[in-house]
Amino acid sequence: MNVLIIGSGGREHAIAWKLAQSSRMENLYIAPGNAGTSEVGINVDISPLDFKKMASFALEKNVKIIVVGPEAPLVGGIHDYFETREDLAEVTIIGPKKEGAQLEGSKDFSKKFMKKFNIPTAKYFTVTPENLDAGYAHLDKMVAPYVLKADGLAGGKGVLIIDDLALAKKELKSMVKDAKFGEASSKVVIEQFLDGIEVSVFVITDGKSYKILPAAKDYKRIGEGDTGLNTGGMGAVSPVPFANREFIDKVDNQVIIPTIKGLRAEGIDYSGFIFFGIINVKGDPYVIEYNCRLGDPETEVVMPRLKSDLLELFDGIASGTLSERDVHFDPRTAATVMLVAGGYPEKYKKGAQITGFENVLKSVPFHAGTSETKEGIVTNGGRVLAVTSFGKDIESALKTLMIQ
Ligand code: AMP
Ligand code: GLY
Repeated sequence: MNVLIIGSGGREHAIAWKLAQSSRMENLYIAPGNAGTSEVGINVDISPLDFKKMASFALEKNVKIIVVGPEAPLVGGIHDYFETREDLAEVTIIGPKKEGAQLEGSKDFSKKFMKKFNIPTAKYFTVTPENLDAGYAHLDKMVAPYVLKADGLAGGKGVLIIDDLALAKKELKSMVKDAKFGEASSKVVIEQFLDGIEVSVFVITDGKSYKILPAAKDYKRIGEGDTGLNTGGMGAVSPVPFANREFIDKVDNQVIIPTIKGLRAEGIDYSGFIFFGIINVKGDPYVIEYNCRLGDPETEVVMPRLKSDLLELFDGIASGTLSERDVHFDPRTAATVMLVAGGYPEKYKKGAQITGFENVLKSVPFHAGTSETKEGIVTNGGRVLAVTSFGKDIESALKTLMIQ
């Protein structure tokens, strides 16, 4: 089977690495990919938002499955576009249509959805330029810290957590009225602050049945010991010690099942991944956010733990038979550590040469921001490599990474 993966980060390299191990895989393409994906497949120079070019490529190369890594093409309607074209009827998109992608694309949509289907989440109030005064009044009634979320996609930067009431009001205005996060913050969701520890839970679904993938936890701060500025993700582990069987059962019953049923009840035909950003508040799960894709760098620990054939799971989506497929995991712990460019997440340079891959013997280096040049592999982003290792627990996985 021929498959095309859309995206160019560590998540897409990990998906490509896993799919390349399938006995049913014929040609694997990645658009646009990076220096790592070109080791397991063929990179294609197509922008993730150029649906027309993507479609022509799929027809030309007899691609049967397209796996969409990032959210932007999904929220932008890649699945809807493929569905409108009769000549693409044979191509399955792994990822929801525009409406389902609103779970990530609009915080207001996802909060309304959760409220309607009784899915535990923080209480909220939605503010637009028309009801800004009501937004201020709402903040007056709350206790600090104040959580303000841009409604639309803001590249992971649209959430502010503020201790001071006056500052929260000022930021609310700058989001709603002065487009602090562009069009994305013309609507803002004010949320009750939830105090707890977070875990990412992933599900693959064909819209009828679903399979839960290994849970993972990402670490977003730049500094040692979870300190300093926020980043796109500095590392991840799976499994997550506190997310034990009992907790995941609660997530399943209180969050996953009502979400899948809710989507069906709303007539939203959802296929692909659902990422549940969960917070554990005194043993009970609450949804912090939904994403319509896998997480990064969580995928770099989830894929290595997946023992089953990922292509078979995708084929289960294509044929609507996901319920008949098995999902098995490696019981060991996987940990990934992100190597970043000096200066990241502030100013950093691109184009620095990377050497020494031959010394990485016991870990898998997933490429996040690299490209191939005549001079060799060079950095092409702030987050450069996610190096994943196994161990019997988190400590030993991290040690494996250090001693080679
Ligand atoms: P989001 O983009 O919605 O995932 O929010 C980004 C981050 O802000 C989350 O990963 C949490 O760490 C934090 N956050 C979001 N909503 C809340 C909340 N209601 N209470 C506490 N922390 C939150
Ligand atoms: N690691 C969080 C995300 O992918 O959004």
